[in-house]
Parts: sequence; C-alpha cells; structure tokens
Amino acid sequence: MSKLTLSTRFTLILSGVFLVGILVGGTTYWRALQGKAQEQIAAQGTLLLNTMSAVRGYTSTHVKPLLAESLAQSEHFIPETVPAFSARTVFENFRTQAGFESYLYKEATLSPTNPLDQADDFESALLQKMITDSSGEESGYRGSGDARLFYIARPLKVGAESCLECHTTPENAPASLLATYGDKGGFGWELGQTIAVQIIYVPPQKVFDAAWQTFLLVMSVFIIIFALTILLINALLRHYVIQPVKVLGGLAQKISADENFSSDLEGSALHSVTARVDELGNLAQVFKKMAADVFARTGKLKEQVQQLIIKIDEIRRKEQVTAVVESEFFNDLQKRATELRKRDGGSEDVPPPDEEIK
Ligand code: HEC
Repeated sequence: MSKLTLSTRFTLILSGVFLVGILVGGTTYWRALQGKAQEQIAAQGTLLLNTMSAVRGYTSTHVKPLLAESLAQSEHFIPETVPAFSARTVFENFRTQAGFESYLYKEATLSPTNPLDQADDFESALLQKMITDSSGEESGYRGSGDARLFYIARPLKVGAESCLECHTTPENAPASLLATYGDKGGFGWELGQTIAVQIIYVPPQKVFDAAWQTFLLVMSVFIIIFALTILLINALLRHYVIQPVKVLGGLAQKISADENFSSDLEGSALHSVTARVDELGNLAQVFKKMAADVFARTGKLKEQVQQLIIKIDEIRRKEQVTAVVESEFFNDLQKRATELRKRDGGSEDVPPPDEEIK
C-alpha cells in the first residue's frame, strides 16, 4: 500500500467505497423492486378476482331473473342465466386481448357441472384446506420456470337459495340443464357450503422482467455516475494537489542536492503554483521565499568560506616560514654565515631570513 501513488490510492479507496455502495444499494433496490413487482402482481390478481365476482353477481341479480321465464319454458338450456358461465365467458373474452393470453380464471370444484371446472390436484388441495381450515384468501406461486404462475384463490360458497334450483339433485334441476350437462356433477350442494375455489392465475414473468429492466437501467446510470466521479476526482487531485507538490518537491530536491535552482524560482511552473490563492498556493509562496533566502544565504556563506580559506592559507604559510626559521638547520646555517662574514671581515649586516628563502 505504501508504494502506491496518491491518485492510485484515491482510485482504489473510492472504487472500494463505490463497490460497497453499489452492492448494498443494488441489493436494497432490487429487493424493493421485487416487493413492488410482487405487490403489482397481487393487485392484478385481486382486481380480476373482484371483477369476476361482480360479473357473477350481475348475472345472478340481473340476467337470471330476466330470463327465468324463458328458461322454464325453453327446451334448450340457457347458460347465460348461470353466474359461472358468464364469469368464464367474460374471462375468455378478456384473454383474447393481446398480452393477457396467459391469464387464467377457474371455479374449480371436485365434482363439476361442466368438466372444464374439474379441480386438478393443486386446486383440490387448496379447496380441502379451505374447507377444513375454513380459511379465506390464499395466494402464492405454482409451477416453475416460464410456467410459473402467481395465484389468488378464494372459497366459493353457495350463497343464495337460488343456487339450489340447479345444484341440489338432478330431479330438482331443470330438465334442459340435465339434457346439456348430464346428471354427473354439480349436485348435492347445501346453502352456505364451500363447494369450489375461485382462482385466478397471473403470469408474473412480465412484471419481474420489467422490474429487472428498471433495475439494470438505474444501476447503469449509478455506475456511470460513479465512474465519472472517480475520473473527475482523479483529474482534480492531479491538477490541484499532485502537480503543485511535484513542482515544490523538485525544487526541494535541487536545494538538498545543492544544485543551482535560481532559474526555477522565476520559472513558470512555480509561478503557476504561487499564483493560486488556496492552501497549496500559500505553501508555495512561503516555500519560494524560503528557497530565495536559502539561495542568498548559501551564496553569502560560500563567499565567507572562500575568504576564510584564503586567510587559513596565509596563516599556514606564515607558520611554515616560522617553522623553517626556528629549525636547527637554519640556526646552524646562520651561525656559519656569521662566522664566514667575520672571517672575511665583512659587514655585520645579516640579510633577513625571509629574503634568503625567497
Ligand atoms: C340455472 C341453473 C343454475 C343456477 C341457478 C346456478 N347454477 Fe351454478 N352452474 C350451473 C351450470 C349449468 C353450470 C355449468 C356452467 C358452465 O360452466 O358451462 C354451473 C357451474 C357452477 C360452478 C362451477 C363448477 C361447476 O360445477 O362447473 C359453480 C361454483 C357454481 N355453478 C355455483 C353456483 C352458485 C354459488 C350459484 C348461486 C349463486 C349457482 N351456481 C347458481 C347451473 C346453475
């Protein structure tokens, strides 16, 4: 980690934060979307089931009384007087509309008047459960994969005396009914008894697919925004922090290596940093002043050192001369010179030792 550059470190940290954000946010969002989709599917089912119940009610209260006389006199049975028939027919019409082909409606019973209403194993189990537990609405999924369907089921009771006109015994039922449907099913029912399960099937895949599409769209937008943010922060970091620090770092390097940096002090690179009014700009101004001071002081110091060296050289030379003058050899030499002069009767003037050495 310590060898990473500032921008790589920033990118890694931000990517980490964004990744966690996307994972947590994405999971939460997907759960919420799924919940919404589930609600939407259930709402569709409830709506359709209520509509079918309304159709049944309409037939019982409006159509059947109107046709009661005709039905009694007619040789042929008039199925339009039957609530179950109208509900099934209305739903068949509904299914012919595009996009609703996979929806299903059924009034499933164990021994039906119309064989189409024969309950399958799943529906029989539901009906048994409703009878034994006297439970209300049931909902959930049946099947798997593409064939998976969401269902909402309600118990269907014999709610009125009028139902018994056709559903008690074959003897009591209209002859035309027996002629059309036979006497095998739809009999032996009692008032208030749960005899069928009214069930609606809604294909959930479309709603979930739509939720998935929404999820992907929103997530892509998020990821793009995150990626752009990382790029932008990187660019800003480079421009506002890394570049100025590099300029100051280069200058500091030169100062520490005692290279000539006077041209850098007036260069455009440093000027671009000192011209800024932020913290790094202030730092650069202080740094520039400091560097200029260092430059001036080093110059002065070098000059003083030069003078000091000259002085030391002089002192050293003088010391050497003194050493030579004070040496035994020199004294000996002087003595001999004096003696020689005396012998020759020459002058007493002895030339200064300095001159002789020069
Ligand atoms: C005029 C006779 C008649 C009356 C009244 C009548 N039904 Fe039926 N019922 C039928 C016939 C006929 C069918 C079969 C219709 C079809 O789907 O073709 C049927 C079907 C049903 C079904 C579907 C299961 C099956 O047996 O096929 C249920 C549930 C049902 N009736 C309940 C009722 C209830 C509850 C009432 C009272 C509100 C009622 N019926 C009134 C004749 C009648």
